[in-house]
Amino acid sequence: MTDVLVEKLRENRDLGDGELRELIEHPEHDAALAQAADEVRRGRYGDAVFLRGLIEFTSYCKQNCLYCGLRAGNRNAQRYRLSREEILSCCDEGYALGYRTFVLQGGEDPYYTDDMICDIVSAIKEKYPDCAVTLSIGEKPRESYERYFAAGADRYLLRHETADPEHYARLHPDNMSLENRKRCLFDLKEIGYQVGAGFMVGSPYQTTDCLIADLRFLQELKPDMIGIGPFISHKDTPFRDEKNGTAELTLRMLSILRLMFPYALLPSTTALGTIHPMGRELGLKAGGNVVMPNLSPVQVRDKYAIYDNKICTGEESAQCRGCLEKRIESAGYRAVTDRGDVRRS
Ligand code: SAM
Ligand code: SF4
Ligand code: FES
Repeated sequence: MTDVLVEKLRENRDLGDGELRELIEHPEHDAALAQAADEVRRGRYGDAVFLRGLIEFTSYCKQNCLYCGLRAGNRNAQRYRLSREEILSCCDEGYALGYRTFVLQGGEDPYYTDDMICDIVSAIKEKYPDCAVTLSIGEKPRESYERYFAAGADRYLLRHETADPEHYARLHPDNMSLENRKRCLFDLKEIGYQVGAGFMVGSPYQTTDCLIADLRFLQELKPDMIGIGPFISHKDTPFRDEKNGTAELTLRMLSILRLMFPYALLPSTTALGTIHPMGRELGLKAGGNVVMPNLSPVQVRDKYAIYDNKICTGEESAQCRGCLEKRIESAGYRAVTDRGDVRRS
C-alpha cells in the first residue's frame, strides 16, 4: 500500500513541520520510507557504495564537547598523534586497497599547525593526484580553511551536531556556539570545499523539534554530505549514564534525508554498526551510499575512543576492507573504487 506522506516527501523533497513530525515519531512509515529512499538512491547513484579511508590521526583535543570521549577533560583518554610519515603510509595502504578518498580526522589539536596540515595535504595530493583529501579537524578561522584548500584539500566534514541553539548549549561548554559552527560551515562552502554537515541521533535532550530544526538547517546549507549516527555514551564523559540513540530512529532519519536531498552523500556510519550488528547494511538499505572504513594503524585504533564499544578497533585495514566488501554485497550493493564525488544532477 502506498504511504501518502512518504510519496509526498519523495515528490516535493519537502514537507511541512507537522508532516515531518508524523514521519519522525511514527514507526509505521518506516518500511515505505526505506523503500522510497532506496529507489531514489538507486535512481541517482545506482548500486554504488563509495569508500572513504578514515585516518584518525590525533586523539588530542582542546575542546570539551560533553558527549565525546576525546574531550580535553577526560583524563583517562589515551592520547596519540601520527607523524606525517605515518599518515602517508596509511594512504599508501589505503590506495592499494582501492580507496580514492582519504579522510584526515582528529580532535582539535593545536600541535598540528596550519603549516603542518598544509604540508601533509599537499604531500598526499602530490603522491596521489587522483584521490580526494577530506579534512575533519573542527572549527578553525576562515584563513586556515583557505590555506588548507589552497594546499589541495577537497572536502571538509564538520557536523553541526544540532541546529537548535539551546540544545547546542546543553551539549557543549560555554566557549562553543552554534553560531560559530554555522559560520565555519558557510565559510567552508564559500571557499569552495565540498562540505559535510550532520548530527547525532538520540543525543541527550534531543526532541523532535531539534530534528526538524536539523532538517531545516540542512535545507539552508545544502551540503554535499550529511553524516548522521546514533549518540553512544562514553563512560568517562558527563553523559556516561545517558541512553544511546537507536538504530530505528537513525535509519528513519537517513531515509528522510535521502528523500529530501536525493543528491547527497550519506554515510552508513561506524556508530550505526556499533549499536546494531547489521547497522551498516541496514543504513545502506535505508538510503546510505558511503562507508568510511578505518585506515588508522591498528596499534592506535582503540585509543580513538569517541564512544564505548566502537567496532573495527582490532582489525587491520585489509581485514576491514574485506569485511566491508562482503557486507556491502550482502546488502545488495557494490563497493566502488572511485573518488565518489557528489552528483548534484
Ligand atoms: N573534532 C572534530 C569535530 O568535532 O568535528 C572531528 C572529530 S569528532 C570525534 C567527529 C564526530 O564524532 C563529531 O562530529 C560527533 O558527531 C561524533 N561523536 C562524538 N562523540 C560521539 C558519541 N558519544 N556518540 C556518537 N558520535 C559521537
Ligand atoms: Fe573534540 Fe570533536 Fe570530540 Fe568535540 S567532538 S571533543 S571537538 S574530538
Ligand atoms: Fe572493520 Fe568489519 S568493517 S571489521
